[in-house]
Amino acid sequence: MTRRNQWDAHLYDQHHSFVSEYGHDLVKLLNPTSGERILDVGCGTGDLMNTLVDFGVDGLGVDQSETMVVKAKEKYPELSFEVKDVLELDFQGEFDAVFSNATLHWVKEPKLALEKMYESLKVGGRFVAEFGGAGNVELILNEFRKQCQQEGYSVTNESLPWYFPTIGQYTSLMEAVGFQVTCAVHFNRPTVLDGEDGLRNWLHMFMPNFLHSLPDDVEMRVLTNVENNLRQILYKDKQWEADYKRIRVMAIKHE
Ligand code: BEZ
Repeated sequence: MTRRNQWDAHLYDQHHSFVSEYGHDLVKLLNPTSGERILDVGCGTGDLMNTLVDFGVDGLGVDQSETMVVKAKEKYPELSFEVKDVLELDFQGEFDAVFSNATLHWVKEPKLALEKMYESLKVGGRFVAEFGGAGNVELILNEFRKQCQQEGYSVTNESLPWYFPTIGQYTSLMEAVGFQVTCAVHFNRPTVLDGEDGLRNWLHMFMPNFLHSLPDDVEMRVLTNVENNLRQILYKDKQWEADYKRIRVMAIKHE
């Protein structure tokens, strides 16, 4: 299984609903209008596609995780969802807009992904996306890496499943595939993780393979030490706040 396939769609909906909640700002930027054909890349369990359809959009949500798509269809049986990886998109000039929230940092072949999304758009179509940028969750990852190292386990950048580019890196790729970039922003977006166990739930959700490869006692010590060492910086008003940094881009297909 790759990337997000292993995610528990139920756990995701229960503890990580902030992912689609933050996405509503991005929907405002997309400014969807009735009758537009819109592709949601990385639709998860379908909440933002449901919002888009409220605007009268003719939408299709795709996600490479089968469990997410099954859950999306269960929640919104009248909407269209397909299991499809962004790298396998095979649409030619079909969409007025391609929209993607909190997904593209999972794609370690960003240029190919941009080419596929570009090809999916009609000429004049728009691309609106938000995802993790350079420095995203750096405090958490550095502490996690340190604790694993102390236990004799190494967490290399290559072993992490994410791509967190700078604006310069990403917009250069966008231009290389033909997009006219109209807006690019890199900003801090501290993100509340629900409950006293929010940080360890986040690590369980997003690093399950690595955590489960550790012996139980090591996993317990790593999680406890990460919490203890980050508590002073990331635990505020009785809640964990992850150091998210986002990149938001808008662009037009102009040829
Ligand atoms: C993010 O949305 O920034 C993110 C989610 C999971 C792991 C890493 C980053």
